[in-house]
Amino acid sequence: ILDNKEKLSKKVAEIVAKRINDFNPTEDKPFVLGLPTGSTPILVYKELIELNKKGAVSFKNVVTFNMDEYVGLDENHEQSYHYFMYETFFNHIDIKKENINILDGMAKDIKLECARYEEKIKSYGGIHLFLGGVGEDGHIAFNEPGSSLMSRTRDKELTEDTILVNSRFFGGDVTKVPKLALTVGVGTIMDSNEVLIMANGTKKAEAIRRGIEEGINHMWTISMLQMHRNAIIVIDEEAANNL
Ligand code: GLP
Repeated sequence: ILDNKEKLSKKVAEIVAKRINDFNPTEDKPFVLGLPTGSTPILVYKELIELNKKGAVSFKNVVTFNMDEYVGLDENHEQSYHYFMYETFFNHIDIKKENINILDGMAKDIKLECARYEEKIKSYGGIHLFLGGVGEDGHIAFNEPGSSLMSRTRDKELTEDTILVNSRFFGGDVTKVPKLALTVGVGTIMDSNEVLIMANGTKKAEAIRRGIEEGINHMWTISMLQMHRNAIIVIDEEAANNL
């Protein structure tokens, strides 16, 4: 638990940089990093860009897998997670384009796209560190309440709550928010060597309490982290309000 969002973001960026540096990745043995979107990681990405510029960490031999993507938004749509990731992070670091993996929300065959993603993760021997945020209702990636805790990458209908919360990025217009997303499953996240979930602000306080202090429950998918051997939750004082 850190004082505020700034300290939290610095800490998370430091952890990510340390894991990459300790691993000492090469072209043949890259570091595999799972990445989130949302407002929470924006400052973390900023910190990582700074560390990259200073030469304190390199992404040359880092392979990334994003958690999720809206169905029906192409990569040039400003609200697609694809666009967000390039604008916020990838365009500003030394990562190789071929090492970036993001689910294709325009894929004709959704099932095939999700299976391809799982296979690709497997081909690297799995994810070393999965970084994530959490929704107000406790969802990780787009694993909405009621998701199977063993789920793999698949399409998921968004709940009304999530559509409402995310409508702030679509000019407040709920009708513009896609109703369907592609997302890695809870099981996919659980397979990673390490998972780091971050949260800030009072709006996340209940999700954090449910995730840490209540039992494992598929209505609050963050709670599945209790079963992970290597999970870290980094939050600010406000998100710790209900603990
Ligand atoms: C979306 C994303 C999640 C993210 C969540 C919280 O639903 N699919 O991956 O964790 O939003 O977003 P924010 O960080 O903006 O609160």
